[in-house]
Amino acid sequence: MSTESIKEAVREKYGQAALRVATGGGACCGAGAAFAGGADPITKDLYDARQTTDLPQEALLASLGCGNPTALAQLSPGETVLDLGSGGGIDVLLSARRVGPTGKAFGLDMTDEMLALARENQRKAGVENVEFLKGEIENIPLPDNSVNVVISNCVINLSADKDRVLREAFRVLKPGGRFAVSDVVVRGEVPAGIRRGIELWVGCVAGALEESEYRAKLAAVGFEAIDIEPTRVYKADDARRFLAAQGADVDAIAPLVDGKFMSAFVRAKKPVKGYAR
Ligand SMILES: C[S@@+](CC[C@H](N)C(=O)[O-])C[C@H]1O[C@@H](n2cnc3c(N)ncnc32)[C@H](O)[C@@H]1O
Repeated sequence: MSTESIKEAVREKYGQAALRVATGGGACCGAGAAFAGGADPITKDLYDARQTTDLPQEALLASLGCGNPTALAQLSPGETVLDLGSGGGIDVLLSARRVGPTGKAFGLDMTDEMLALARENQRKAGVENVEFLKGEIENIPLPDNSVNVVISNCVINLSADKDRVLREAFRVLKPGGRFAVSDVVVRGEVPAGIRRGIELWVGCVAGALEESEYRAKLAAVGFEAIDIEPTRVYKADDARRFLAAQGADVDAIAPLVDGKFMSAFVRAKKPVKGYAR
């Protein structure tokens, strides 16, 4: 799979997902069609009802994440937040509320249908301190040292060039800025066959980084205070669902990945000074 073909497959999958929400068809995420009907173990029940009461229903329906980064990130009034791969915009709208009218929340996404949905959700929510930008997380259209917090929800695993994404996140963060990201992460080795499936890649599984590799990549671009906290660990039964979408030999493979995939909250800091860039 080339970088470009992965990107095209991701764009197509999430373009379709955005249209399904926009036309009232309901969203499905995870590894694809096997999850239609909302039983996706990765995406279900991420947000507390108290957190989302003021949001348009479409923003919640469009949620395709694997965590709740704004619940775990420290966000203060007046800060600037950037959400990498903002999808239907739920985490951008939640961040905007947290940083208040003196702060700003940017969403960045490469998929036109997702941007249209996010902008419609912003209009319905009546929130002004939000801007959705079109672009790629490998090439963030913001200046150096311009953002206090980079959040993201189940997107970095989709990128075929994660080093570049992390370098870009580091570049746009202000010194002392925080990286506060929910992502699918692997603990230990998984069978090579799982890594090869494009359906499993676009479903946030095949492209997931191994935990120690994630740490090493963050450290290599200059981040410090790196921490990876599991928020959900997937058992063999959950894995059966990921694998069924690919027509894989579920009975043989599911036990081998028991407990190896997790949703995690990944934190790191850009040093205040003396960073090597
Ligand atoms: C799994 S969805 C998550 C959306 C959102 N963060 C949420 O929690 O609902 C992935 C989103 O990331 C976007 N995306 C994936 N790869 C991207 C890239 N390389 N650059 C920009 N956006 C990307 C997709 O268009 C899609 O909207």
